[in-house]
Amino acid sequence: MKAIIIYCSKTGNTEKVATAIQSGLGGNADVIKLNLNNDGLLREFCPDFKFDLADYDLIFFGGWTMMMKLHPFLTAYIQRCENIDGKKVVGFATGGAIFSRKHTISDFTVLVEKRGAEVLDFHYVTTLLGPLLTKKKLNNARRFASDIAARFYLDPVSTVL
Ligand SMILES: Cc1cc2nc3c(=O)[nH]c(=O)nc-3n(C[C@H](O)[C@H](O)[C@H](O)COP(=O)(O)O)c2cc1C
Repeated sequence: MKAIIIYCSKTGNTEKVATAIQSGLGGNADVIKLNLNNDGLLREFCPDFKFDLADYDLIFFGGWTMMMKLHPFLTAYIQRCENIDGKKVVGFATGGAIFSRKHTISDFTVLVEKRGAEVLDFHYVTTLLGPLLTKKKLNNARRFASDIAARFYLDPVSTVL
């Protein structure tokens, strides 16, 4: 079972959650950061960047909430990536406040299902621009990924940071 984590992050919160998720997967996942400019182009050379997800059985997509919506970089990637149909997908997102959670999950589910993939689960983390992203929340994200891994017979690891 091959997994990949694809995420975008501006100020580092979603990146921390992505790292916790990778740790929860026991390091058994490729990772791509969508470090894009406003035209949707890569800011710097990224040798691991890929649009074709044919090699992966389990895909984690992570982004942050901007103006009550899933971030447009992640949205654009999900709309355009190749060979996502029929895949199992897990979402995660950060947002300043809990009130945007519903919009973000709903955006994500519509996007993924439009591509013919199945949303297995979603993990939302509140950050309030940083200070609310506690060690406990990162540990919860790690445990979330570990539970998903167990469902997929990857090697779940200890959930204590
Ligand atoms: C321009 C902008 C718009 C935002 N809009 C929302 C929003 O609508 N709802 C919300 O909960 N958080 C909002 N946030 C907060 C971010 O989602 C939050 O700080 C997130 O953790 C940032 O992720 P990052 O550190 O990975 O870039 C906004 C932040 C910025 C900079």
